[in-house]
Amino acid sequence: MYDAVIVGASIHVGKHQEAIRDFVSENRDALAEMPTAFFQVSLSSASEEKRDEAAGYVESFITETGWHPDRIGQFGGALRFSEYGFLKRLMMKQIAKDLLDEERRSHGDVEFTDWNAVDAFTSDVAAFVEGRLGVTPDSSEGSAT
Ligand SMILES: Cc1cc2nc3c(=O)[nH]c(=O)nc-3n(C[C@H](O)[C@H](O)[C@H](O)COP(=O)(O)O)c2cc1C
Repeated sequence: MYDAVIVGASIHVGKHQEAIRDFVSENRDALAEMPTAFFQVSLSSASEEKRDEAAGYVESFITETGWHPDRIGQFGGALRFSEYGFLKRLMMKQIAKDLLDEERRSHGDVEFTDWNAVDAFTSDVAAFVEGRLGVTPDSSEGSAT
């Protein structure tokens, strides 16, 4: 038994990893009993115009799994061109061309993640979980005695 669970998945061709969907569907009842959070990583979250698309992926995930996480985070991901084969590299460069300037298109991996947003999300989840579990942050930490 866990105190809380955070589930994360990325989007590939419009879908989250099947193993994650299966895990959540199979454990939905247990997840409903505890504080939970879900975060999604996609390219859609990296551009303002595609925010609705990213939100749509979350909606589908909730509909398909029947799980309603307490907190949801949506983050831009990364394109690790150096790890892709020829075809995948070509395909992703084409798909992401509006997001990549000339420099980035020709060199190396690209990260779109807003790490401040990730920090804010994790702080929010931690505060929520502490509230639900009735845990107060260690007040002795850093205080002079
Ligand atoms: C083959 C492939 C397909 C992708 N398809 C989509 C997509 O349909 N929509 C989207 O918003 N992002 C898409 N992305 C972007 C990924 O969600 C993003 O790169 C993420 O950081 C991938 O994380 P991972 O490499 O850990 O799976 C795709 C990326 C790859 C490599």
